[in-house]
Amino acid sequence: MHSEYIDSLILRLCKQPRTFEFISKSLNGLDPIQLKEAIDRLEKKETLHKRDDMWSVNEKRKPLTLNLHSDDPQLYLKKYMGYFDFLKMPHPLDFEWRNSTASLNYLINEVQEMNSVNDRILFLGMPTLFATACIKDIPQKVTLVERNKPIVRGLAKLNADKERFQILEADIFKVAPKEIGKYYSVIMDPPWYSPHFYQFMWLAAQCVEVGGVIGISLPPINTRPDIDKERIDWFTFCQKHGLCLENLYAQRLHYAMPFFEFNAFRAAGIKDILPFWRKGDLALFRKVHTDKHERPLLDEHKIEWTEKEIDTVRIRVKDEKSSDNEEFKITHLIKGDILPTVSTRDKRRDEANVWTSGNRIYKVSNPKIFLQLLNDLENEKPKTKEQKLVADFINSTTELEKKEYNNYLDWLYHEMERQTD
Ligand SMILES: C[S@@+](CC[C@H](N)C(=O)[O-])C[C@H]1O[C@@H](n2cnc3c(N)ncnc32)[C@H](O)[C@@H]1O
Repeated sequence: MHSEYIDSLILRLCKQPRTFEFISKSLNGLDPIQLKEAIDRLEKKETLHKRDDMWSVNEKRKPLTLNLHSDDPQLYLKKYMGYFDFLKMPHPLDFEWRNSTASLNYLINEVQEMNSVNDRILFLGMPTLFATACIKDIPQKVTLVERNKPIVRGLAKLNADKERFQILEADIFKVAPKEIGKYYSVIMDPPWYSPHFYQFMWLAAQCVEVGGVIGISLPPINTRPDIDKERIDWFTFCQKHGLCLENLYAQRLHYAMPFFEFNAFRAAGIKDILPFWRKGDLALFRKVHTDKHERPLLDEHKIEWTEKEIDTVRIRVKDEKSSDNEEFKITHLIKGDILPTVSTRDKRRDEANVWTSGNRIYKVSNPKIFLQLLNDLENEKPKTKEQKLVADFINSTTELEKKEYNNYLDWLYHEMERQTD
């Protein structure tokens, strides 16, 4: 056996730490004595090193992780995570958990199975599934309803057949069903809260044909207290709208951990976690009859935020009134600034009026002035005391978040490698 060949096999396996047992098991009957010789040789050449009884390629000699500024920084993300290359980094206020590539492939196959070529398909809040449908160029007509502007702009870059793949930029809570039309199947992934469930399901029930199917991702049973009751209420709502639960697949859908959740977990002291730890249950409902009901009332106290993107960091500023007389200041709400949770039940959320894509929260005395100061930064060097304060704040925040994002990419890389064995 040529040593160059054996070495290449070992190095490929050891892109992540591997035990001798693992390497030996993966080498198609290679004599373990020959394997040990090869490992010793590679260790001597400092190509491999051993730590905690595991072998891995020497990262100092050949960096494995990707530099954000390299030509194709998203190489690994592309393989496992839905469209991180052309969709903007998710912001925590959008509850945007994207499915893993494996789940998107699973879903698009299901969609193909359940629809004939002439059927029309509706996706509600499923931008990455829409991207998958476009890229796979599936034969059916597909419409996506999505209100998130940066997402819609990202999807427009796909260059898909505009006749077959249509995006309706609209609010699912408000859009008239007539504007959307009728479909044989609706696939959707609302944020996992009751008001969203009722609004999405109501719209889907209006738009699906009798005999058609609605697929929805649901929070699994340990997601939060009272989910058992919530789920029964949801199924009752569906039944009232002529929808019969036909299949329920526990934990069938996988989500890729977004950067803001990575930061939240790190801030909470959780490091040993997998990128695809979050799962969703897939429920399929069949529309068995038409039962008209008014759109559920939305007691959503709508809070508007304005977004400013600076040096890849997305900064949201709450549109709220404040006194112009008070001296401008930025208040830190928590030690380290990163909110150590993504749960909406956390009360500290209410105080924040500035929120970054890395899950940092702050309170500024006057959001309008803060936005103005952010705009000033783009056009002039900071001169006033307030401008200098905001410039320093932005510099340190963006520096930290860029570094953390690189750590996130590093971590993803290693964890995704670990999961592929
Ligand atoms: C939980 S995410 C699901 C993302 C999905 N798993 C994917 O990978 O494409 C929910 C999606 O619904 C969208 N959304 C939430 N509320 C909406 C509304 N009222 N109108 C339109 N879209 C909405 C969000 O922008 C987001 O894209």
